[in-house]
Amino acid sequence: MQKYVINGGKPLFGEIEISGAKNAAVAIIPAALLVDGVCRIENVPQISDVTLILRILEELGADVRLLNKNTVQIDSRHITSCHVPDELSRKMRASYYLIGALLGRFGQAVVSMPGGCDLGTRPIDLHVKSFEKLGARVDVVSGYVHATAPKTGLHGATIYMDQASVGATMNTMMAAARSTGLTIIENAAKEPHIVDLANFLNSMGADIMGAGTDVIRIRGVGQLHGGAYSIIPDQIEAGTYMAAVTATGGDVLIKNVIPKHLDCISAKLVEMGAKVEEIGDCVRISRSGPLKRVNVKTMPYPGFPTDMQPQISACLTIAEGTSVVTEGIWENRYRYVAEFRRMGAQIQVDGKIAVIEGVSKLSGAPLMACDLRAGAAMVIAGLAAEGTTDIGCIHYIERGYENLVEKLRGVGADICLVEDEDEEAQHKIEAV
Ligand code: UD1
Repeated sequence: MQKYVINGGKPLFGEIEISGAKNAAVAIIPAALLVDGVCRIENVPQISDVTLILRILEELGADVRLLNKNTVQIDSRHITSCHVPDELSRKMRASYYLIGALLGRFGQAVVSMPGGCDLGTRPIDLHVKSFEKLGARVDVVSGYVHATAPKTGLHGATIYMDQASVGATMNTMMAAARSTGLTIIENAAKEPHIVDLANFLNSMGADIMGAGTDVIRIRGVGQLHGGAYSIIPDQIEAGTYMAAVTATGGDVLIKNVIPKHLDCISAKLVEMGAKVEEIGDCVRISRSGPLKRVNVKTMPYPGFPTDMQPQISACLTIAEGTSVVTEGIWENRYRYVAEFRRMGAQIQVDGKIAVIEGVSKLSGAPLMACDLRAGAAMVIAGLAAEGTTDIGCIHYIERGYENLVEKLRGVGADICLVEDEDEEAQHKIEAV
């Protein structure tokens, strides 16, 4: 077991290179199952969620090769199974993409109900409804989703998403890519990774139009061919480091980003007193003056992303005045609050609303990450706090951040990865 140890209170200066987007990678890798050929996928982040989804593909019979640290080659021509084992798929939410991909390619999928971060109830009813509209039969039996296409294969349909779900939009795109006829997704989600998945599939021969708008049209094609594709930079990773600089002060060039994807985050950080400048495929962020209060409401893209809510809340704990944060997507996204309070933060939560009274400083404390973005927010709080912060359960953070420690050390943060003897001792006690 390992933990992060942070000696906070130091402003950050220098450059950080952003990795490929986690939420695009965990969809594009399963989408390679739809391809009758060899896919070379570049800019793949080296994170544990990616390692896991690649392992699942291997278990299914795909030939997976790491060509270098961030490039993976996947050959799905000789898949031997459409059954995804429970012990692998329950570890990540994104395993739901295997249903759409396997159903789209082979007409059947048996996938254990997905796991992932506990952000509240995470249903997949919209996914199931879409597969059924395309003609599939879907049953949940003993914790597994069984999806089967009719003998004639999946057919196009018009699907109205009751809610603009990221996962259901992408899953429908996958299932429909090789169906017969035209599928129209109305009230589709518009996140950058949806456009990235459409671009990936189109570069392999699919016919998908309108991704990034509310209406996506997918004309099914018989086959997809191999090719090469590079994943977009991670909007949330970039936003996390921007929030870190806003909290600590300093001046950092965030490299390899699509600045447009960051507008919704930059706008709030600027309102809080940061300066953000777009320079080609980089943004430069600095803060030297006081941190100001803001109100934030999370919404689907292009609104402020829910996956940045804990990180901006970390900044707001030390802003002047009272901020109101409203979580508009998940019902259980404030589990980090108890940990922030250990550092002296003043936060009251009532349902989806958090009221944060800024304090003049946080003090370092031992913390436990409770989910991916909450863990990232604890790192930001630790960097801004006076004294030492230990963060345990960092496996949550490693699900989504490549080389976090090295990247932060590169801009002057005092953070290191150490073996957590206490945690190990604790585990031994529990084992006894
Ligand atoms: C994805 C992201 C996650 C992010 C979220 C919202 C991945 C792997 N994960 O999650 O990091 O926080 O988008 O931007 O990309 N819903 C239903 N029924 C469904 C599906 C969703 O009611 O079948 C609801 C959810 O409970 C939630 C809302 O729709 O309230 C949005 O969920 P969705 O966009 O589907 O999130 P995920 O795809 O799970």
